[in-house]
Amino acid sequence: MLKKRFYITTPIYYPSGNPHIGHAYCTTLCDVFARYKRMRHFECYFLTGTDEHGLKIEKNAEKAGLTPQEYVDNITNVFTKLWSAMKISNDDFIRTTQERHITTVQNIFSKMLENDDIYLGKYEGWYCTPCESFWTETQVGENHLCPDCGRPVEKATEESYFFKTQKYLPELLKWYDNDKVITPINRKNEMLNTFIKPGLDDLCVSRTSFSWGVQIRENNKHVAYVWLDALCNYLSALGYGADHDELYQKFWKSEESEIIHVIGADITRFHTIYWPEFLKALGLRLPDRVFVHGLLMMKDGKMSKSKGNVVSPYPLIERYGVDAIRYYLVREVVFGQDGQFTPEQFVDRVNVDLANNIGNLVSRTISMIQKYFDGVVPNFEKGVNPQDKEIEDMVLETIFQYENKLDDLHITEAFIDVMNLLGRANKYIEETAPWTLAKDETKKKNLESVMSHLAYVIFVGTKLLEPVLVEKSPIIFNALGLTKEEYDYDNLKNFNVLNNHKVNKTEILFPRLDVAKEVEYVKGLMGNNK
Ligand code: MSP
Repeated sequence: MLKKRFYITTPIYYPSGNPHIGHAYCTTLCDVFARYKRMRHFECYFLTGTDEHGLKIEKNAEKAGLTPQEYVDNITNVFTKLWSAMKISNDDFIRTTQERHITTVQNIFSKMLENDDIYLGKYEGWYCTPCESFWTETQVGENHLCPDCGRPVEKATEESYFFKTQKYLPELLKWYDNDKVITPINRKNEMLNTFIKPGLDDLCVSRTSFSWGVQIRENNKHVAYVWLDALCNYLSALGYGADHDELYQKFWKSEESEIIHVIGADITRFHTIYWPEFLKALGLRLPDRVFVHGLLMMKDGKMSKSKGNVVSPYPLIERYGVDAIRYYLVREVVFGQDGQFTPEQFVDRVNVDLANNIGNLVSRTISMIQKYFDGVVPNFEKGVNPQDKEIEDMVLETIFQYENKLDDLHITEAFIDVMNLLGRANKYIEETAPWTLAKDETKKKNLESVMSHLAYVIFVGTKLLEPVLVEKSPIIFNALGLTKEEYDYDNLKNFNVLNNHKVNKTEILFPRLDVAKEVEYVKGLMGNNK
């Protein structure tokens, strides 16, 4: 069934420290998918937010001499400011301390208790405070280290509620039958081999040793386990169980909606084992896809404050513009694999792809149309020059591939194809040598065709890059003399869209960077996560 709606979510981030470029990576990916779907006229709902409860937050707040609420208010503010600086187009921002969320979690907990999905027991195990996770003896190994973050765990015993994980296992495995639900597929195998086959323990879903959480109505000594609390955000933001649940009806319940969670590899277990089981316990449909992206690493491993290798996106945005950062994130880290942030690669991407491939192509083409045709794009005619058919075919093939790849979440590859198309257009200029054609009156038709093909390729390339290049694409459309109606996605395959349009000179779109100087500058930012 062709789905017409699209619900996409980022993980909700812990406001336990300022956001860094790793958080920006995940949010940017979701933003690009959301913008792509909107561009194709899907009804789209894009959610992000912050995960504000738990022991770690409580402790951090205490250290900072603030109440937990004051503490999370401050950091959440930094997150929302960053998203607006990065032109993130989220439709909502959920905070787990909001009343709408708290009520939903309490309702969900009650429902699970009523259905006998949850029972009261005793927990004895190893607890990792930074990850808010309990682990078994075998999982923590001899050295008693958290299998997720590698930090030491502490022994903990307390009265807890437990979720019966075996009850919904058959339904979980049925969901796993579809190879698309967890992407890349190796993540699914990892879940099966590491957690499911060795035997799933019941999940502890409440805590009594701290109070900064959602209080359980039935037993006020307990707060909901932070992961149960956090995962429910995907429903609470849509108004699940509330009086006004139109969004829930539209984007979760309706089969016409495609539901996609984008997450980092570090939180796969929660999203692909427990979350689907919770949903089944509630009698709800499961997400269509959980997309697991790799982490953005630094040369010396994972970004962390103690290593002093954290990069904040702010100074990068200020110096290079938001499009450069967005493009770098989408292009450099192959989706699904870990990527490495290096200043050299960052500067290189801006120069090679943005300044040369796009910037030059646009400025050369506009200057030539001005010089040879008084700034008016000649009418498009097919197949005049020997290379024209190849360009025409390549445009259609690129659009086809782009749609298939983005619909299948292969984001990096989709944008590589677009860059290849623009690269081909640059080569087409060299091959057809318009400056030579211009000297020969009998070659006028050839020259017209080169210009109309170039202008059209720029239109297509820019349109396909629009979900990433949010600032520069309208400038390019304007330079081509296109109105908003004309640069609609539905005109993408209309070769004649630019006929007779008056072009305008643009500012320099992406200034070429001095490699040595800028690499030094970016190096200087590392560790400075302000
Ligand atoms: N609060 C939980 C998520 C609950 S979702 C119901 C959490 N928060 S987190 O802030 O620690 O990390 C959330 C996500 O941020 C990761 O899954 C990942 O998507 C992203 N990233 C955090 N660091 C990252 C990198 N270094 N690189 C790429 N993404 C990173 O876990």
